Amino acid sequence: MHEFGFKDNELYCEGIKITDIAKTVDTPFYLYSYKTLVDHYKKLKTAFKPINPLIAFSMKSNSSLAVVRALVKNGAGLDIVSGGELYRARLAGVDPKKVVYAGVGKKTEEISSAIEFGILFFNAESEDELDEIQSIAARFGKKVSVAIRINPDVIPKTHRYIATGKGGTKFGLDFETVHKIFNMRWKYPNLNLNGVHVHIGSQILDAGPFEDAIKKTLDFLKTYKIDVEYFNIGGGLGIMYSVENPQTAKNFAKRVIPLLKKSGLKIILEPGRFISGNSGVFVTRVIYTKRTPRKKFLIVDGGMNDLIRPSLYEAYHKIIPVKVSEHSSETCEKVDIVGPICESGDFLGKERLLPQAVKGDILAVMGAGAYGFTMSSNYNSRPRPAEVMVMGKNYYVVRKPETYEDLVKGETIPKALK
Ligand code: LLP
Repeated sequence: MHEFGFKDNELYCEGIKITDIAKTVDTPFYLYSYKTLVDHYKKLKTAFKPINPLIAFSMKSNSSLAVVRALVKNGAGLDIVSGGELYRARLAGVDPKKVVYAGVGKKTEEISSAIEFGILFFNAESEDELDEIQSIAARFGKKVSVAIRINPDVIPKTHRYIATGKGGTKFGLDFETVHKIFNMRWKYPNLNLNGVHVHIGSQILDAGPFEDAIKKTLDFLKTYKIDVEYFNIGGGLGIMYSVENPQTAKNFAKRVIPLLKKSGLKIILEPGRFISGNSGVFVTRVIYTKRTPRKKFLIVDGGMNDLIRPSLYEAYHKIIPVKVSEHSSETCEKVDIVGPICESGDFLGKERLLPQAVKGDILAVMGAGAYGFTMSSNYNSRPRPAEVMVMGKNYYVVRKPETYEDLVKGETIPKALK
């Protein structure tokens, strides 16, 4: 469920018509529903109540300060993956003891600032990284908690670019190496190796692969009598973009709680998309329509630099007009919705049946709250769009659109070229 729905032929976000927002905010822009974000967080929280895990929202899916703050204010922790996300997490007022830090390539300064902040633990992904955290922790004279990320070698059944838990990817460590590391705890006097972490991939629709990964990891801990306090089961819960039938939070919890409960470990979840995906849409305007012998195109003001998922993963996002106007007669036609960028890969949707659209019509690209703005770029020197959050009947521009000055910020032309 989400808070985007039609009333009297107008698409609303919570209590506001999207057309009304577009009167004051220039398209394109991202639009987030506060209520949907919090509802999704609470759905997981409630489903997992019997084991009361830390739910660490994965900031890479949406790191808008307002979004992160909304979740933190409602009790969420955060899964971070860079010094930049740590910086944002701090601005959002997160409790350091609710922050976990993953990623295969943490740099010295990033590790140092996370130690200074006092995060709950690092999810370490290599022996080199453990050595690095050890030496920084020693410099600080601190004992730092670390969970080892295991690559459980399961098949996550998702797009190959977002599958991480199979052998052969760069993520985590194989069981044998993890065993060796736990046997050599003495090598890390400043580390408290008190957790294990798995994250097998993203947009996974069924609990099966999660169960496999959890079972394999728990068997491993049992077989080798490895004593840890935390088990971070990662994120990856899939959502509905079109006809998928993803597990609900409740069903997922029902399948994995019995396994987790038996382990007696403290559990951490790192959902991103499940919370933010359907909490946001990307709003874009038709600037031209164009008929060619083979196809009709709607050329819109949002492109692959704003929302890259269709181009990068051939991801499907439902696209709907925000208003069924006098122009959009009942006759639908097949169109490609494309952006202004100079690449044939620049599309938001292909061969979509839409009511006839004209110049100026506004479209909503659904399910754009996760990996939308966070993956945007300035390609073609396009300023990135605004972000807007709706709370009931009010809306707030939570990030202004970039300006041309922003585009060249920090750039200089060397004297030798003047
Ligand atoms: N934890 C770790 C260690 C991760 O690497 C990720 C996502 C998550 C949690 C959150 O996963 P989620 O619950 O959102 O599935 N850009 C791609 C998705 C990449 C996911 C990367 N890691 C997309 O647009 O589909």
